Amino acid sequence: MEEVKKILYSAVQPSGCVTLGNYLGAIKNWVDLQESYNCMYCVADLHSITVRQTPADLRKRSVELLSLFLACGLDPEKNIMYFQSHVPAHAELAWILNCYTYMGELSRMTQFKDKSQRHADNINAGLFTYPVLMAADILLYQTDLVPVGVDQKQHLELARDIAARFNGIYSETFKIPEPYIAKVGAKIMSLTEPTKKMSKSDPNPKGFISVVEDADSIAKKIKSAVTDSEGSIRRGEGKEGIENLMSILSATSGESIESIESRFAGKGYGEFKAEVAEAVVECLRPIKEKYDQYMQDKAYVEKVYTEGAQHAQYLARRTLDKVYRKVGFVKR
Ligand code: TYM
Repeated sequence: MEEVKKILYSAVQPSGCVTLGNYLGAIKNWVDLQESYNCMYCVADLHSITVRQTPADLRKRSVELLSLFLACGLDPEKNIMYFQSHVPAHAELAWILNCYTYMGELSRMTQFKDKSQRHADNINAGLFTYPVLMAADILLYQTDLVPVGVDQKQHLELARDIAARFNGIYSETFKIPEPYIAKVGAKIMSLTEPTKKMSKSDPNPKGFISVVEDADSIAKKIKSAVTDSEGSIRRGEGKEGIENLMSILSATSGESIESIESRFAGKGYGEFKAEVAEAVVECLRPIKEKYDQYMQDKAYVEKVYTEGAQHAQYLARRTLDKVYRKVGFVKR
């Protein structure tokens, strides 16, 4: 008998360009894991309006992001790809789970604290309850594994707590998901401020690399990446810039950090940065080429996300029906 594959779930917000951090911390691992799991990949558009978006840009970026999933090598024959707003079950389950999540838990979320500082003029309730929607995303599909970067670990822990709490009250309803955080690349830092994570919402474009950026621009940004004045290529305190470039080289080329350290012993930053730039450009080149092709084939991309949403809604409804029954809603 064929073994039933476990379920993998992950998502990216269409709130800016997709960065090298998103790729190395998340999407690259999705590609590596797609053969071993039944996978769901979501464009988390509901999440992205917790920060003000320009509607036309959001619409455009959402389609671009789904095209990028395809360009990165995710196979729509084997996996489900869709827009979160096309599957109403996400918002429905989020409401229910809101009633099983405490204000105190949400107040402790570091991303909420960061974002409410950065968007002090718009600290909306959605920003506060964002992790509950994320828990709903994951729990709707009885997910086993969630590949994410380090910054999402706290949200995932909350999703596990909410699931366990609900199961404790109403009997087994949700699978408790496990995080999958890669050894290398799970926290790619900004090129201009290497103590901060690389972020698509960084107002300084020199801090991040877009997955579809052209080769010259990538090389320039890496060449001007902030390092230190010590001049040696090794890990250590005050070496965040060099460490970050080593992680980028390791994650894009497959070479271990130890091997990079010993190969570059006694060599200068110029030579090192040139090699990092080349590795990044080579890693992203095929993605950019495929992305340009998918962007020309709107009908195909539309078919992928339309069928994806139908399939996702069917699966999500099964969990939602169970939840509605357990909390005591009358059967429709
Ligand atoms: P988002 O859109 O900020 O990022 C998408 C994925 O990229 C990872 N990531 C990074 N990894 C390494 N280095 C970085 N500098 C870096 N920046 C981002 C993130 O950890 C994430 O895995 N809330 C999520 C989206 C989401 C989600 C979900 C994820 C919504 N529902 C359900 C998993 C499961 C977010 O804002 O990711």
